[in-house]
Amino acid sequence: MILAIESSCDETSVAVIEKSNVLSNIISSQYFHSKYGGVVPELASRAHLNTIYSLTHEALEVAKVDINSIDAIAVTNKPGLAGSLIVGTSFAKGLSLSRGLPIIPVNHIEGHLFSGCLQDSSLEFPFVSMVVSGGHTSIFLVNSFDEYHTVGSTKDDAAGEAFDKIAKLMGLPYPGGPLIDKNAKLGNPFRYDFPRPMIHDPNYDFSFSGLKTSVRYFIHKNFPNGISENEIYDLSASVQQAIIDVLVRKLINAAKHYQVKSIVIAGGVSANSQLRKELKAEADKHKMSMIAPAMNYCVDNAAMIGFIGELKYLSNKNHYDNLKFTVNSTAIRA
Ligand code: KG4
Ligand code: ZN
Repeated sequence: MILAIESSCDETSVAVIEKSNVLSNIISSQYFHSKYGGVVPELASRAHLNTIYSLTHEALEVAKVDINSIDAIAVTNKPGLAGSLIVGTSFAKGLSLSRGLPIIPVNHIEGHLFSGCLQDSSLEFPFVSMVVSGGHTSIFLVNSFDEYHTVGSTKDDAAGEAFDKIAKLMGLPYPGGPLIDKNAKLGNPFRYDFPRPMIHDPNYDFSFSGLKTSVRYFIHKNFPNGISENEIYDLSASVQQAIIDVLVRKLINAAKHYQVKSIVIAGGVSANSQLRKELKAEADKHKMSMIAPAMNYCVDNAAMIGFIGELKYLSNKNHYDNLKFTVNSTAIRA
């Protein structure tokens, strides 16, 4: 049985995993960052410190297991905010020392990459997986749990970052992604024509900072006195459509190029309802299966860390008695 801990950004999460089954997955989101328009790293670290102990109790209680039944601890050690990662890893190391438990450092991106497996164990290799979050937008060719390659990534802003920064330009609070998703349901996605950066480039890379700049100029020019509610709906729908068009096109192109039958999306932006809908339609058209994690596995969560942590632990139990590992805020690969 694995106790998993995730604290890489602004969600503190603790989960209990047994044989790839999620016995509990408690997530505490730090909504207070919205008043600052983005995550404040030091406040995030302090909030993790405040909640991590009680969340661990809650995760064990919901899973109906005693700490003595835990065989190993999995913890996110990269990438993410350094201070936030240090809270989770230090807590995990303390627990490991006091209980004599092995400890498995896990890459957060690997957690997202395989989060589709948490609800769909039939997922077959190879597949292409797109991790779209506030910090990352990358496409991976995944051959096995140990072997995966980045085939494309963003050259500047991540898709979630684009959603959040554009939402801020529209006067919406952080994180703006879910609000744009909600507003877009009431708007016309073809009202405004925003750029679809790099959509026709023969690669699987992305760039979203130009789109953000284009929306900034557009708002300054057209709405100098503020944006009405109906215009917010149309703007949200049009911006969302521009981002989704690029994400869907690149992922489908990658799947065709690498001749895989399954596509997977993961990360916070994979919660976007229109993205899920359009990707499913395109996958059906190309006779591919599309796997999107359940909503509580899209956002940062410890279940995905426990899932991959358990696989690592079972493949080499003797490897995880070392407390010397540190955190790395920028690493993409294991
Ligand atoms: O994976 P995640 O929880 O944290 C990071 O590792 O970044 O992703 C958070 C990101 C934020 O940028 C947020 O705005 C975006 O995911 N997001 C969404 C939606 N839900 C979350 N973006 C668009 N539509 C959504 N429904
Ligand atoms: Zn994430």
